[in-house]
Amino acid sequence: MAVLVTGGAGYIGSHTCIELLESNHEVIIVDNLCNSDKIVVDRIKELSGKAPKFYEIDITNKKDLEIVFKENKIDSIIHFAALKAVGESVNMPVEYYSNNLISTLVLFELMKKYDIKKFVFSSSATVYGDPHVCPILEDFPLSVTNPYGRTKLIIEDMLRDICYADKSLDVAILRYFNPIGAHKSGKIGEEPNGVPNNIMPYITKIAVGKLPHLNVFGDDYDTPDGSGVRDYIHVLDLAHGHVKALEKLSEKPGLVTYNLGTGKGYSVIELVKAFSEANNIEIPYKIAPRREGDIATCYADPSKAEKELGWKAKYTIEEMCQDSWRWQSNNPDGYKNGK
Ligand code: NAD
Ligand code: WQD
Repeated sequence: MAVLVTGGAGYIGSHTCIELLESNHEVIIVDNLCNSDKIVVDRIKELSGKAPKFYEIDITNKKDLEIVFKENKIDSIIHFAALKAVGESVNMPVEYYSNNLISTLVLFELMKKYDIKKFVFSSSATVYGDPHVCPILEDFPLSVTNPYGRTKLIIEDMLRDICYADKSLDVAILRYFNPIGAHKSGKIGEEPNGVPNNIMPYITKIAVGKLPHLNVFGDDYDTPDGSGVRDYIHVLDLAHGHVKALEKLSEKPGLVTYNLGTGKGYSVIELVKAFSEANNIEIPYKIAPRREGDIATCYADPSKAEKELGWKAKYTIEEMCQDSWRWQSNNPDGYKNGK
């Protein structure tokens, strides 16, 4: 099928495009490259052996985006494009609401106009707020604490309204836990702008000598070693989850929601140890105060996705750490001057 992938040059989108092309789907990427690089599109082609179509377009611009709908017979949409930094969203709420919500509304309007029925949305475990218990099930109460998270919850709510009004739509909301890792080739991976907020890019920047040590944000949480516990999932498992969800959409009409996680939590200190052991590199760390807005523990119950999609995360924490490092060590400056 012909799949329109918004944000397809980004971290999760690029890995998903490879998986889609390898599964013989046609891929049309739209990305304004605000957090990615054109070289990613070349690497997608190199790694999959097939060329995606690429449009450098800001999808908040309906006129520009409509050209893509006119030029292609699109069967389905995977919508990754968004601004995604939690801290930044607190300081720049207007930019976050504007980019993430307008782009999605423009897509919904064009989807309706061009009669496209299948839609997969990148949501986040952030919509569970501070869960009362773990593992987290899809029907847990939803709440958010920052503008980024609110854009995800608003879009989820819009999708629930849209699917209620139009029973012919097939929509999957995928709630990712903490994506890390990179393609096995070491040619594509995560490259945040500036100092990373997320833990794995921070660790790999230490390993490559660009940052001195990790600040472990809190050692007094109610967790086995006091540091925060998260469900880290390999980006390749996530990519596979998207293809599975897309291919099952017609079998599961209406709106479906899945957690994409491993079901296992690792603490910050366990992750640091796993990285050191997997790659034989010491990661110095210091205990620092808790980061505002963080929660103690967050991990998924992924059994619904396993039962209904036949999808299960398969990569170990060791592979996630090795693959993150292979990407960063091959590309110390990200896509600038990378191999
Ligand atoms: P990313 O920043 O690497 O990818 C997003 C892509 O969207 C980028 O290439 C960016 O250039 C593009 N983009 C943003 N706004 C655009 C616009 N208006 N028009 C066209 N392109 C635009 O992020 P990612 O980590 O790959 O995340 C992909 C999706 O998954 C996002 O929706 C994000 O919110 C969601 N998500 C990410 C995580 C995570 O930790 N990485 C966790 C849960 C959910
Ligand atoms: C993981 C753990 C930190 C950095 C965020 C978003 C979430 C989703 C994924 C998009 C926590 C600790 C981190 C550091 C640390 N993104 N940490 N030192 O906060 O679980 O989730 O990314 O949807 O919405 O909130 O991920 O990687 O920032 O943190 O100790 O320098 O590492 O406190 O326990 P988080 P993270």
